[in-house]
Amino acid sequence: MAEKKTFLKQFWKEKKMVGSIRPSSRFLTEKMLENVDFQNSKVIIELGPGTGVFTKKIIESMSADTVLLVFELNDNFHALLHNEIKDPRVILIHDSAEKIDQYLMMNNLHAADVIISSLPFANFPEDLRDRIIQKSFSSLAPKGLFVQFQYSTQSKKILKNIFKDVSISFTPLNFPPAFVYTCKK
Ligand SMILES: C[S@@+](CC[C@H](N)C(=O)[O-])C[C@H]1O[C@@H](n2cnc3c(N)ncnc32)[C@H](O)[C@@H]1O
Repeated sequence: MAEKKTFLKQFWKEKKMVGSIRPSSRFLTEKMLENVDFQNSKVIIELGPGTGVFTKKIIESMSADTVLLVFELNDNFHALLHNEIKDPRVILIHDSAEKIDQYLMMNNLHAADVIISSLPFANFPEDLRDRIIQKSFSSLAPKGLFVQFQYSTQSKKILKNIFKDVSISFTPLNFPPAFVYTCKK
């Protein structure tokens, strides 16, 4: 309940950045993570964790030797995650998803196996959206996975232009109902 309140409060403060009035449902969480091979994914990146619904599931599922880089731009969400998550495998980054490549390098990591993104691309200027998608693509290892949810099919074209294989599924059990894009490099 507290998480829902925090979320709504941040939405009123920064509507475009937050992009939703409440955290994603457990159904959407399952859909977002169902194709992730946690056993063999040693570097995972999450973009836009909010109150951490996906983050907590990723942490539960990932291997002991996996590193999770989490990018959150919103001050309050970052502070909340910083207070709640004390796992040494997790690196919380209070910065924009645009800087994926820089933070991989700073942490001596070569590439990511999986990127899980909740960024509200529909609210972003096109050049920012395209830059983040391009950087995600170039930061992925060969055959890496980029998973993104959106409330529309607006990002379909750009994702299909960049990724070799894009599949889209629909999750009605979320508010708002969401499309999950699973993109393979
Ligand atoms: C729709 S919310 C999703 C939150 C959470 N993952 C969920 O599904 O409940 C989008 C999140 O992206 C974050 N965000 C927006 N722009 C960002 C950026 N450029 N870099 C990192 N995070 C960003 C927002 O602060 C917010 O937490």
